[in-house]
Amino acid sequence: MKKISPVSRSGRFTGGPAVDVAQFTESISFDHRLWRHDILGSMAHTHMLHKIGVLTKKECVAIVKGFDAIGREITAGKFKWKPELEDVHMNIEAELTRRVPAGAKLHTGRSRNDQVALDVRLWLRDEITLLLGEIANLQRALVSLGEKNADVLIPGYTHLQRAQPVYLAHHLLAYVEMLERDCERLWDCRCRVNVCPLGSGAIAGSTLPLDRALVAKLLGFVDVDGKVQLTQNSMDAVSDRDFAVEFCAAGALLAVHLSRLAEDVILWAGAEFNFIKIADAYTTGSSLMPQKKNPDVAELARGKTGRVFGNLMSLLTLLKGLPMTYNRDLQEDKERLFDTADTVRATTSLMAAMLNNTKVNKPACAAAASDPALLATDLADYLVKKGMPFRQAHHVIGAVVALAEKSGKLLHQLTLAELQTVDKIFGCDALGVFNLKTAMAKRNLTGAPGTKEVAKQLARWRKELSS
Ligand code: ARG
Repeated sequence: MKKISPVSRSGRFTGGPAVDVAQFTESISFDHRLWRHDILGSMAHTHMLHKIGVLTKKECVAIVKGFDAIGREITAGKFKWKPELEDVHMNIEAELTRRVPAGAKLHTGRSRNDQVALDVRLWLRDEITLLLGEIANLQRALVSLGEKNADVLIPGYTHLQRAQPVYLAHHLLAYVEMLERDCERLWDCRCRVNVCPLGSGAIAGSTLPLDRALVAKLLGFVDVDGKVQLTQNSMDAVSDRDFAVEFCAAGALLAVHLSRLAEDVILWAGAEFNFIKIADAYTTGSSLMPQKKNPDVAELARGKTGRVFGNLMSLLTLLKGLPMTYNRDLQEDKERLFDTADTVRATTSLMAAMLNNTKVNKPACAAAASDPALLATDLADYLVKKGMPFRQAHHVIGAVVALAEKSGKLLHQLTLAELQTVDKIFGCDALGVFNLKTAMAKRNLTGAPGTKEVAKQLARWRKELSS
């Protein structure tokens, strides 16, 4: 069997690993995407090694230039990744050393264990920033759709049964609130991602006088007050993947919210609701039924939730039985983490684009919202204002609803005389309750779907999201 020999086997080994072992253990096929952050981390380490006298100025300059050139080649797609060099760290270091002999000093005081922890943290920090930007975009799309249809009322649902009228904007703003909590969770997760593990070595730091704070500063591992953030235990630093689990958990909850929004969009786009029309570019056709226009973007947003949940479960399972400290099992974290980041970012972005290309069918919404049964609770409140205990009012209105049903009328078509057959308390102002406009003007508690309150919330979000 042909043997190949990665750099990590020098000295102790008589030969390279078997071909199938090399194939089984490689990670370059997926971790190559860490290259930019691997180079960034190595450059900071290079500067630090120069500062503590391990590298001369000339060596330091040559290494940095070498990294620049390699980075440009990777960007241009001209760099040749070698699977026999196992991973992104080995590929880049080996090529650097081939070009710049001083590259052989680069790994001083460093192990791939702290290097990979560093790279993943740097990568994830950028990923979170990008994701936060996409979430804000989706929030803006929801607010815009609400603003463009500020006067549109729809039935609000519980148990998927018509409950009470709400402004469409109020329904959309519910998602803006959920997404805001997702942002808070991601920001919070980012604080724990943003801690520098470099200098932890393989497990036990180094006997060399490494300047960990310098590396951390160069790489932006500082908190909001500018205080340097360093991991405080070398064993924890090389085996910790909590930060990846946290991101996948926050991502899973974001996926839940996206999936619920997708479900509403799917329902609303169907003929039964007919509240919205998604632009052709964001729908797909059927291969058999020529009339079909399907909301596949929303369906996939809902469907992709499964893999995002799965990624979280994989990571938790991966970690649960690991003895301290680094074990090769940890290499399995990356594909799951990458998949969650890619999936939630793409889904968030597509949902925003779809909503920006969605029109509201105002007549269909108005027809649905004009169902007087939606104001049955308002009629109970009317009785409460006349002094009746709510439990009794609830019962009386129930009887009114039954009467309407029996006489084949809608609630607001009952006459005052008919209402009074149920209870004498009804006055001539009772039927005024069914004026939707005044009904909406009355719901002005904080967080309620009242005319003024919804306008206020839309304005608040517009301002909040403009910065
Ligand atoms: N490719 C490895 C990973 O992703 C890098 C660290 C390897 N360390 C080691 N001791 N083999 O985890």
